[in-house]
Amino acid sequence: MLRTVELSRHYQMGRSLVKALDRLTLSMVEGDFVALLGTSGSGKSTLLNLIGGLDQPTSGVLEVRSRNLAGLTRDELSVHRRDTVGMIFQSFNLVPTMTALENVALALMFAGVPKAEREGRAATLLEAMGLGDRRHHRPRELSGGEQQRVAVARALANNAPLLLADEPTGNLDSRTSRDIMQLIQTLHVRDGKTILLVTHDAALAATYARRTVTLLDGAMLSDTDA
Ligand SMILES: Nc1ncnc2c1ncn2[C@@H]1O[C@H](COP(=O)(O)OP(=O)(O)O)[C@@H](O)[C@H]1O
Ligand SMILES: [Mg+2]
Repeated sequence: MLRTVELSRHYQMGRSLVKALDRLTLSMVEGDFVALLGTSGSGKSTLLNLIGGLDQPTSGVLEVRSRNLAGLTRDELSVHRRDTVGMIFQSFNLVPTMTALENVALALMFAGVPKAEREGRAATLLEAMGLGDRRHHRPRELSGGEQQRVAVARALANNAPLLLADEPTGNLDSRTSRDIMQLIQTLHVRDGKTILLVTHDAALAATYARRTVTLLDGAMLSDTDA
């Protein structure tokens, strides 16, 4: 599913070089569930953004399903985002002026679903997240947990095999966090999604993930099976 070899993302900041990710070598098989741990600034979001095709590496190999993303054109990267990955974020990143249904339907549009099918499929996805009766609510009319479930529905719109989650429970209380984690676990166990989950919560990582990878200063500190 994923292979990186000496993957780096460096930023030149004036005279200093920030090594956000530095020669990271990491592989994930299809169906893996990896928790990515590390202190703030250790490169976790940088790695997710590279895998998600939101950013491009400075050097190294980055393959998703045997396709090297390094060196793809912008158009090719948008195809990768459309077909291969679903992303969820700590701050949900929903469009505030759109309802839950419209947010998910928008993702279906980007996924190439014909207009006539979008609303029905968006409703089905929201239903599966337990949000059938919230479909016409806008983000500010929803709780944090509900917003994150809309974001999960959106991430599933393209049927991508790989789900990238960047601290998805970082803005949620502990009970709601557990609900969202159980939802992610269901996607892994029932639907066979490959999951890469960033968290700073080692206990949460140990409970849900099969494997824990810890970064330090953009490099691998440890890689342990659960
Ligand atoms: N666009 C950027 N320009 C310069 N430095 C950046 C940029 N994005 C991230 N960094 C730096 O790269 C390092 C890793 O950041 P990040 O991947 O966001 O860490 P984490 O998600 O683990 O907290 C940090 O030192 C951060 O300041
Ligand atoms: Mg981060």
